[in-house]
This record gives sequence, C-alpha cells and structure tokens, in this order.
Amino acid sequence: MTAKELRDKYLSFFVTKDHSILSSASLIPENDPTVLFTTAGMHPLVPYLLGQSHASGNRLVNVQKCLRTGDIDEVGDNTHNTFFEMLGNWSLGDFFKEESIKYSYEFLSSKEWLGLDKEKIAVSVFKGDDNVPFDERSYEAWLNLGLKEERIAKLDKKENWWELPGENSPAGPDTEIFYWSKDEPAPLKFNPDDEAWIEIWNNVFMEYQKNSDSYSKLSQHNVDTGMGLERTLAVLNNLNDVYKTELLWPIIEKIQDLTGFNYKDKTKEMRIIADHIRTATFILGDDKGVSPSNTDQGYVLRKLIRRALRYMRQLNSDIDYTFKDLARIVINIYQDTYQELKRNENFILKEIDKEEKKFLSTLEAGAKQIDNIKGEITGEEAFNIFQTFGYPVEMTKEIAKEKNIKLASDFDENFKIAMTKHQELSRTASAGKFKGGLADSSEETTKLHTAAHLLLAALRKVLGDHVEQRGSNITPERLRFDFSHPEKLTAEQKEEVEQLVNEVIASDLPVSFKEMTLEEAREKNAMGIFESKYGEKVKVYQVGDDDNYFSREICGGPHIENTGKLGKFKIKKEESSSAGVRRIKAVLEG
Ligand code: ALA
Repeated sequence: MTAKELRDKYLSFFVTKDHSILSSASLIPENDPTVLFTTAGMHPLVPYLLGQSHASGNRLVNVQKCLRTGDIDEVGDNTHNTFFEMLGNWSLGDFFKEESIKYSYEFLSSKEWLGLDKEKIAVSVFKGDDNVPFDERSYEAWLNLGLKEERIAKLDKKENWWELPGENSPAGPDTEIFYWSKDEPAPLKFNPDDEAWIEIWNNVFMEYQKNSDSYSKLSQHNVDTGMGLERTLAVLNNLNDVYKTELLWPIIEKIQDLTGFNYKDKTKEMRIIADHIRTATFILGDDKGVSPSNTDQGYVLRKLIRRALRYMRQLNSDIDYTFKDLARIVINIYQDTYQELKRNENFILKEIDKEEKKFLSTLEAGAKQIDNIKGEITGEEAFNIFQTFGYPVEMTKEIAKEKNIKLASDFDENFKIAMTKHQELSRTASAGKFKGGLADSSEETTKLHTAAHLLLAALRKVLGDHVEQRGSNITPERLRFDFSHPEKLTAEQKEEVEQLVNEVIASDLPVSFKEMTLEEAREKNAMGIFESKYGEKVKVYQVGDDDNYFSREICGGPHIENTGKLGKFKIKKEESSSAGVRRIKAVLEG
C-alpha cells in the first residue's frame, strides 16, 4: 500500500462515518505560546475540544503534519521520527469510547479497509489512579469486539493518558493499539515492552480539562485519535522499519550514494540524517516557514540541520554541500500531498545551503578554539563554542577526545545549565512566548512572575497545604492569582501573607532552576506537578538554597535572579473567583 492510498483510505473511511475532512494545519501553531510546533492533530482543535462549536461539525478527520523534538534521542531506532504525519479523527461531544474503538478496529481489520490480521492486534487501556478510575468502558469495548483478555494491557498514566503541556489542555485516558511486526505469529500474551509490538494508533477520550494541578470534568465527551502514518505504512507493507517505506527510503538511498556506505552498516547515522533533513525541509517549507536562528523554531531547525551535517561528515567528510540534494528528494516525495513544499522550494534550498555554508565555514575556527584549550574543557566552554561556532556538544566532545583534552567532571551538567540559561534568555527576548499566562517579556512582568511563586508558597504557609494554584495572569502592572481555598481571607491572613512575601524579598534569596524529570520534581516536592506524555525534562524553579528553600515550582520561567530586586509586595484585592477558588490581585511597588 502506498502512503497516498493509506491517507485516502483513512479519510474515506471516516467520511462513511459522517466525518468532515479538515486540511492539515501549519506546523507552526497559531496563538499558542506553550509549544513551538504542532505536535498532534488535536492541537489546532483545542478550543473545540473545550466546547466551542466547529464550523465543520462534530465529527472531523484529517492528516496532520506533526513535529516532536521530545523523542529526538530515540530517532535512530526503527520507529521514531521528529516529523511525522498523523491520521486523526475526532468526536466533539458526539460519539464516545465504544464507537471510537469500533471504528478503529473496523478500519484496521476489515478486508474492505486495511485488512490487518486481527491475531496481531493488541491494545492497552488506562488502569486508573487516585484521580481517575480504571477505564473499564474501553476495556469492555475491546472484549466485546472479540479481543482476548491477554491482549489487553492495563497501564498507568505514564502510558495511557494524553494531554498537551501547559495549562487548560483537554485531557483524558487513552487506549493504544499495537501491531505485531514480525512474520511469525504473535504471542498470546501482549507485552508492551517487546519492541516487535509497534504502537500505531492512539485513541484519547477527552472528558477532562487539566488545571494547574488537578483535573476538572469537561462539559462534553470528546474523542481524539492519532494514527502514525509512517508506522502503519510500515506494518502494512511487512516492514519493521519506517525508513524502508517509500516516504524515507529514497532519502536513505541518496545518502548511500553520496557516502558510499550501506544502510545496513550505518543504520543509525543514516536514519538520523534522513529524519532530520526531512523535518528541516518541512519546517522551511511551511507557509509560515522560519529560517535557522538561535531562538525558538529557528533554533530547532538549526540544530536539526547541524546535527544531520555532523553525522553526514562522520560518514564522509568529502561530500559537503549535498544537503540541498537531499532536500530536493524530500520535496519530490511529498510535493503532491504538501504543495507548500513546491511553492517554497527555492526558499528551502537556499536556506539549507546557507546554513550548511555557515556551519562549515566555522568548522575550522571552532576546531582552533578547541585546540587552544589546555588540559581540560568545561561545559561552559563547550557551550560557548556551540554558541559561537555552532558546534554541537557531541562534536566538541569527540574533538576533545582526539586531542587528549579531558572533559571536566561536571561537564554535562554545566553545559546543560549554560544551554538552558541561554534558551531561557532567548525565550525572554521574544515576546509572547511564555507559559503560564504572562502577557509580555518586560522586567516588570518577570518580577511579578517571581512574586507569584512567593505568593503561592506564602499562602500555603499561612492557610495550609490545601492551597493550590488554579490559574494566573500577569501583566507588567499587576499579577492575578487564583488558588483553591474555601473562604474569604481575614485581614490578618492577608497581612501575614504580605509580610511573609516581603520578608523573603528583604532576605534577597537567590532564584535558580534545575532541569529534572517529573519523577525527580515530585520527589523534591515541587509544586505544579502535572503528567505530560511527551514531557521532556521539566524545569524546577527554587527560591532559596537547596536545604532551605522558600518555594519550589515546576515552571518554564522566566524569573528574576534574586528576590531583592522585587520591591514591595502589596495585595490589592482578594475576592471569590469561583466555587472554592479565591483570586488575589497584587502589585510590586517601588
Ligand atoms: N493526541 C493524541 C496523540 O497525539 C491522539 O497521541
């Protein structure tokens, strides 16, 4: 089956189920400061999943260009890509679990549609936790369709829950569909850790909305599904490798030609090059396309191109300036489906060439810089080399090794700190890119953002641990902060909170952050814990020292470096926001 046939079949199938076809949205999301790229088909549909009515109706289907950098370290295996196409269908308050599962099973297994072998299908469902119960309805729906009990795994939230990062995302348990990718019969018992089971489809049942640290019920039941085009195409063609599908294989072939190596000997390198060049071509080819830079989408683009270049040069350093040839192949593969690639062809080729030149021209200078380092290289030095010469850190490490330069013992940690700080600054520099309801990037806003962390910690100290953030909105003039608390604050309580915050300001405590996994953040009792399936590491901001901190919160930043800079904290208003939620408006004076 070809990719085109698969896309067409998917759309046609759901049209027979009364779905309307939507076209693919841009890879660069509209009006969403929380993510750089469209990561799923549901992304442009968030307002409708939350209850707004959609002009095309309650049943929608499309093929969406998606980009996820969270999985970049897994690129190189047989199934992960940074760019991929998602076949998705939605019910906006219309049908729910039973129908959704039935549709998926029919599309996959019916001879009229994909005709996949039922004996090779397995699924997982959400097993429940303290907040949300076991998804019995999905479990029963699968049993009723004839799936064997052994083929249904009950997994936890990490596996079977879906939501976007940031606040207010629609959220819910999901059921994931796997296909056995080997010729031999599938074992009866489904083992989700066995990589021969390839996850191809995810059906999310969005009946919740994520608040800062809890979930509330949505007014409607939604279905949000996403099927990986490349993976499904691979299993349909009995390939255990998405790079062998028609969507990626021509790129691999060209890399083989150019480098003189064989795919089977340099599998990982060639997969990374092919993946990254395809993604770069799609970023540049988007009508909202961006150029390589050191901020936001442009930074991701730059990293992808340079990382691919590095691998290419590892295979063969005599074949510079070939990336536009690879990009041309990507355009060829996709131009009928994504006409924007053809439309923007000149831009794509020009930018790729320019970036390649830029990187190659600094290669020598960067190498010299490394030469000048004596004995030991620190993470910070490596970051500066990255920053000035565009050397990915892995490359710097390799060169250091060749030249017998040691890596400082805290090399990785310091590199990361420098990098995160830089990204933070880049983000601060581009207005409207903040998580968490910040209106702009001014210093006033940043100060008030830090004050909001102090306020939450102070409220918990004064009122108790039941206090949790329910929302915030910060402008350069004031902060607005919603939190859970059943009753009006007394005058004394308000005063105590203000006083506590002002004491912390007077103590001039350092504000710092560390990157860590959600697990680590939870162990450290950071506030604002949320589950995020594609969550990379999170940043935890701390006010005070490790062993004596005043506040610790998961947060994207930015923040001021010392509390001493904040001025005087004043609560202007304390009022009810909704049932069980209070709202404080506060300012910083002087
Ligand atoms: N939004 C769901 C996903 O991306 C379908 O897996």
